[in-house]
Amino acid sequence: MTLMRQLWRTKPTDEIVGEAGHGEGGELRRTMGLWQLTLFSVGATLGTGIFVILGQAVPKAGPAVILAFVMAAITALFSALSYAELAGTIPVSGSSYSYAYATLGEIVAWVCGWCLMLEYAVSVAAVAVGWGQYLNAFLQDLFGWQLPAAITHSPGESGGVVNVTAILIVLLATWVLLGGASESAAANVVFVLIKVAVLLFFCVVAFTAFQAQNFTPFAPLGIAGITAAASQVFFSYIGFDAASTAGEEAKNPRRDLPLAIVLSLVIVTVVYVLVATAAVGAMPWTEFNPETTEAGLALIVNLATGATWPGVIVSFGAVIAIASVVLTVMYGQTRILFAMSRDGLIPRVFQKVNPRRQVPVANTLIVASFVSVLAGLIPLGQLAEATSIGTLFAFAIVNVGVIVLRRTRPDLPRDFKTPFFPLTPVLGVIMCVVVMAGLAGVTWVAFLLWLAVGFGCYFLYGYRHSRLRTEMQS
Ligand code: ALA
Repeated sequence: MTLMRQLWRTKPTDEIVGEAGHGEGGELRRTMGLWQLTLFSVGATLGTGIFVILGQAVPKAGPAVILAFVMAAITALFSALSYAELAGTIPVSGSSYSYAYATLGEIVAWVCGWCLMLEYAVSVAAVAVGWGQYLNAFLQDLFGWQLPAAITHSPGESGGVVNVTAILIVLLATWVLLGGASESAAANVVFVLIKVAVLLFFCVVAFTAFQAQNFTPFAPLGIAGITAAASQVFFSYIGFDAASTAGEEAKNPRRDLPLAIVLSLVIVTVVYVLVATAAVGAMPWTEFNPETTEAGLALIVNLATGATWPGVIVSFGAVIAIASVVLTVMYGQTRILFAMSRDGLIPRVFQKVNPRRQVPVANTLIVASFVSVLAGLIPLGQLAEATSIGTLFAFAIVNVGVIVLRRTRPDLPRDFKTPFFPLTPVLGVIMCVVVMAGLAGVTWVAFLLWLAVGFGCYFLYGYRHSRLRTEMQS
């Protein structure tokens, strides 16, 4: 078989769907219904973005940060519709990696899976670092003491040596995941309910101090400010696609996956707009200081009430919220690697399912080790930027995948079709490219290096061990 033929060879959709759920030694259990899937995506999405990045984005856009959240939601929506269509058509665990394999060929699938490691594993590390900061803020508010800087910061940052707190939350999430998918889903439901409750608590308290004059002028920094803030808060929407990594644990994936993806995006958008409105209504935008935004929401409720207990509740909520993001996103990463391993592109150890627990144990432990190293050693800002660029690239591929699959396999049953085709996926690609173009040069360099390493791994291992190649040769 020629090199070019293998690189662009697609995996038959029926084969992808047919092998769903099977790993070496056992199968994944189909336990998740619509609400569990929706809350799973919401759990992966509501986190550092709303608790930390909202405060950093306000100085960029003023009260119009509300519009920035809407703009970022629209950007996410185009890709969400494409995800919804593909998740309903190819309901497996590999998310955009599997969709790319079915539509665009092995090499694109590989690039997509490699980028998903930025969206999942690297973002878990980013979120874990944020968790450590909130844990410290919580301890400070409640007991008046903090953990030492040496174990709460990465090397080179404010006296940091190794970020042990970030590693701690990764290990806790690993422990829960090793307990089994359905228990993790149940834990996730509880986490999500707590964090939505805490954000609503924030809104109620902040609205008691609402000042209409805080909204004039509404957009003091104009359209440019809104756009800049939108790029920044885009991070807060990453994760709505998480349900697409649980396709093989869904009871009725064709119907529920598309619904869960769109529903979760709608839910988080409503929450974000409410929280942003309450925040700016309670505290004039000029008082938001990027230096003190780590616990911005806690600060606002304390100012609104003149007491500290509401801040303690909000920081506690942030600790829970961010913990549940770590849990859900790490789970997603293991399932993507599971799918890649089944295709022979990465070693088989990633698809070994423990027969008793029905969990990919070794896979989970390897992911946990990788994430722990990143979380312990690299600062939040760098991890977050890398997350965004990888995610946007994977989103762009998914949008292209929808267009290709409609042409190559018009016959496939599609329970959900993206409206206004092909306009929606085309706009999806354009929006992804626009937001990517706004990212820093250093992020691009890191991204290109990451891709280069990815290609190296593919040609050294994946290309030779690809199951599709073996099947085609036999
Ligand atoms: N959307 C996720 C968060 O905001 C990554 O934490």
